[in-house]
Amino acid sequence: MNAPASINFSHRHLLRIEGLSVPEINALLDLADTYVEVNRQVEKKQSVLRGRTQINLFFESSTRTRTSFELAGKRLGADVINMSVEGSSIKKGETMIDTAMTLNAMHPDVLVVRHHDSGAVELLSQKVDGAVINAGDGSHEHPTQALLDALTIRRRRHKLAGLVVAICGDVLHSRVARSNIHLLTTMGAEVRVIAPPTLLPRFVDRLGVKVFHDMKRGLEDCDAIMMLRLQTERMHGAFVPSIREYFHFYGLDKEKLARAKPDALIMHPGPMNRGVEIDTVLADDIDHSVIREQVEMGVAVRMACLHALLLPAANRGANVERLRSALFGP
Ligand code: CP
Repeated sequence: MNAPASINFSHRHLLRIEGLSVPEINALLDLADTYVEVNRQVEKKQSVLRGRTQINLFFESSTRTRTSFELAGKRLGADVINMSVEGSSIKKGETMIDTAMTLNAMHPDVLVVRHHDSGAVELLSQKVDGAVINAGDGSHEHPTQALLDALTIRRRRHKLAGLVVAICGDVLHSRVARSNIHLLTTMGAEVRVIAPPTLLPRFVDRLGVKVFHDMKRGLEDCDAIMMLRLQTERMHGAFVPSIREYFHFYGLDKEKLARAKPDALIMHPGPMNRGVEIDTVLADDIDHSVIREQVEMGVAVRMACLHALLLPAANRGANVERLRSALFGP
């Protein structure tokens, strides 16, 4: 483990991966590595964020991201409020900005926000005094998902540079794909996107990826395969002829997996549609699938992001050192 003595992260918000530097990404991953060990202890509670208030504001449904942000905040000692849009005054017509400014008046230290529109979280961040973490905005970015994916790969392969990672399926609607493309290319991995032309953004090759429409060719010698869900809720009209045909050409099955490296990692951000983008046996294949590990890494990465954003710079490294000493001895 390579935990940082100081944390190189000076941003007020975490809105996107695009623009983060290699040292900044490494700092968050190194810190998250330490929190993986904390989360595997019986006693998980830390006091790093005691006295801080975190509000989770989700305009879109979520299982993994919301739960892990709640756990992350609580394990760091923060007071965490989950605001459900269903039970809020948004249902009475209050706008997102008025809601954000109302919450801001209660002096939260951090708002964790998911919204169905690309750019909405950034807009909100301009109206509040505390830090804002983007928990997924439309098809734009999902920065903490890319960080947890990177941590999962790095812990298995001990590096990111030089690896070949395939991102397969509905790239067009995927904020996970965009954040992963930015992170992995920044860190020196080769990124391949594999999808039918209807499910790829225009000019995706300008993001520094290799484009494949033939999945078997695209998977040749890959180190990791990230499967994506068909996001039918963001589709207007038909993007694939049928689910059956889609699975035949773009679903991950044993035959297609055989083209990748023998120890290739199978990844999925969830929620997963078994039998649509991934064969159900492969999803649970303990020799390849790291899907549950991704969920575990999600809590650690979100603890690292809260720590890096909320602790004054001068205290960050000292806190990590104290944590390391408590875990591993002086
Ligand atoms: N990967 C992910 O964002 O999952 P949730 O929608 O369940 O949060």
